[in-house]
Amino acid sequence: MKITAAITGVSAYVPDYILSNEEIENTLDTNNEWIMTRCGISERRILKDKDKGSAFMAAEAAQKLLAKKFISPLDIELIIVATVTPDHPYPATANIVADMIGATNAWGFDVQAACSSFMYALNTASKFIESGTHKKILVIGSDKMSSVVDYTCRKTSILFGDAAGAVLLEPSTDENGIMDARMYSDGSGKKYLYQPAGGSIIPASLDSVVNKQHFIHMDGPAVFKMAVAKMADVAEEMMLRNELSSEDIAFLTPHQANKRIIEATANRMGIGMDKVMLNIQRYGNTTSATIPLCLTEWEDQLKKGDNIILTTFGAGFTWGGMYIKWSY
Ligand code: UT7
Repeated sequence: MKITAAITGVSAYVPDYILSNEEIENTLDTNNEWIMTRCGISERRILKDKDKGSAFMAAEAAQKLLAKKFISPLDIELIIVATVTPDHPYPATANIVADMIGATNAWGFDVQAACSSFMYALNTASKFIESGTHKKILVIGSDKMSSVVDYTCRKTSILFGDAAGAVLLEPSTDENGIMDARMYSDGSGKKYLYQPAGGSIIPASLDSVVNKQHFIHMDGPAVFKMAVAKMADVAEEMMLRNELSSEDIAFLTPHQANKRIIEATANRMGIGMDKVMLNIQRYGNTTSATIPLCLTEWEDQLKKGDNIILTTFGAGFTWGGMYIKWSY
């Protein structure tokens, strides 16, 4: 009997503090209308606690999920954390999260593929389930984007927010779960979206701090052009490969970077915005957390057997699509 990897539970955590467009208007030369029209973002959440990072948010999301599913942390065999803002360069945030939630039987590691991190992690995790070696895996996307955002830059500070989302992955023999996935990358896109310093090329120094090289650097229009094309291409590819028509699709779960990119993807798929999980207006781009955060907010509307297409695009460039038959 074929084993597929099924999402059997979802949960999320968002910090309490709301950074609104109105608050940003007070400090930068921007306005609510520009931000809403160009990106579709009204507010984002910020983790204000200086001593808390991505592991804290990931652990909050994971603990809620375990409680909801009545599962002991001791039953978790593997934790994969998708993040571009790990607590530290090492150890892996996944190891810290395992300790925080008491998952002492689990091994774990981090996956970093910018905004595609969660989908890359979910695809990786699915192989451990499909091979029959693992039965309970937590895949968590968590990013404290406020730790790498330059709040004096109007081009990037309006876009990002902090959040975490977690999914439980278990085996299914019911012909549901992750049915298909296709991941892509093109490293020649590095120059358009990256954090210059903090790695081995430009280690932290006085100069790197003064030159603001530890923040997000982005050529917005160049990234936008690629994102529009590639998210739509990969969504269409998922539909064609799996012989799905627009009517067959229950929901599109897109990475939330810009409302216009999402609309273009829905348009190519021939589906209305009523079938699109869209919460960018309340959270902005939460990088690795966007997809599990959407799934959590739409969980009540999902039915067993629903066809869901996931799409993502991020720095690298990295992008990907996934076809899921919802399992509960
Ligand atoms: O998740 C990872 C993937 N990331 C993305 O997919 C992001 C993709 N890029 C985008 O979403 C868009 O490029 C942005 C939302 C970042 C920018 O929108 P845009 O329509 O591409 O604007 P632009 O960068 O071409 O800027 C147009 C104008 C410029 O002014 P001039 O040179 O025409 O006078 C900018 O300086 O808008 C100006 N501008 C702003 N004005 C008011 C840029 N940011 C702002 C701002 N408020 N916040």
